[in-house]
Amino acid sequence: MKVSRPVWSGVLISPMRRFCSRVDKVRIVEVGPRDGLQNEKTIVPTHTKIEFIDRLAAAGLSHVEATSFVSPKWVPQMADHKEVLRAVNKLPHGHVSYPVLVPNLKGFHSALESGAKEIAIFGAASESFSQKNINCTISESLNRFNDVMAAAKANDVKVRGYVSCVVGCPYEGLINPEIVAEVSARMYEMGCYEISLGDTIGVGTPGSFRTMLRSVTSRVPVEHLAVHCHDTYGQALANILTSLELGVRVVDSSTAGLGGCPYAAGASGNVATEDVLYMLQGLGLSTGVDLNKVAAAGNFISQALKRETMSKVGRAISAKKKC
Ligand code: HMG
Ligand code: MG
Repeated sequence: MKVSRPVWSGVLISPMRRFCSRVDKVRIVEVGPRDGLQNEKTIVPTHTKIEFIDRLAAAGLSHVEATSFVSPKWVPQMADHKEVLRAVNKLPHGHVSYPVLVPNLKGFHSALESGAKEIAIFGAASESFSQKNINCTISESLNRFNDVMAAAKANDVKVRGYVSCVVGCPYEGLINPEIVAEVSARMYEMGCYEISLGDTIGVGTPGSFRTMLRSVTSRVPVEHLAVHCHDTYGQALANILTSLELGVRVVDSSTAGLGGCPYAAGASGNVATEDVLYMLQGLGLSTGVDLNKVAAAGNFISQALKRETMSKVGRAISAKKKC
């Protein structure tokens, strides 16, 4: 009897072999303390945020996004940004970077006073989302970011850039990949060392991610791209795998699958760091991060929020421990 090859074998396995033999390291950018906690109804106490970040850094994560220097009227969950950043800068994890979100010069100066060494500016590929999220057009946002970039360069502060709504927008629907490429290129050219491509409402699929990434990589080198996947439609791991096949080696994720954007109704949490780590381990890609310690940090923050972790891998690890 003739045994037929699985349909995916030619499509997936050969590119996977190709990338595994090429580069075997992936950097995780942990966004739970910012993207996760900004969207929680309960305002988490400052000391709990600091302990959460401490646990994540102790797990081996090299980049833990700590907070955002935005208006407390817009995002009250991040109002303790100064206290959080000052405290985490004193934690005994010399290798760890604690980037913070900064929308404008006011946020930049406040972050700098609190000891920021790395910031992230955040734009969008959708006009409507830009208006709702940061109250300005895409073009106005790029002008503001230019000012922030000049101040950051003068103060030796590293700058990462986010582009939101890279495949879909809660207000405009599908987004043209050429606009994503244009905004990404503008932010890269102004000096962002890395552009994180945000599927803010988690509507992407491997198909739309591939099309979007082909467009963006024609303008920005793939070594300077990261992917930031929310998991609303359960496609995040598949989209990350697609991005890895296309050469991306930086993945944003959120411990316990926390997350969302207050200005993107219906957006669920980011892909869980535990789930990404498990997949990367299975692919033989190293991260330098201890999965069990991240899962324990996920249980810690979930208990603080009085609910179960949203990470499937986190739940499986806990269940195994109970057996
Ligand atoms: P605005 O109202 O247009 O600003 O807000 P303004 O310049 O007119 O000032 C109004 C008031 O805000 C003034 O105070 C300013 O001082 C103050 P008042 O005189 O009324 O007392 N203000 C600030 N306060 C603290 N920090 C600042 C700041 N700037 C002005 N930096 C602004 C503009 C951008 C500040 C506002 O729209 C804002 O804070 N937006 C928050 C957006 C946000 O945090 N969204 C969530 C993060 S983005 C995200 O989650 C997506 C991402 O994860 C990727 C993805 O998933 O796609 C990154
Ligand atoms: Mg996000």
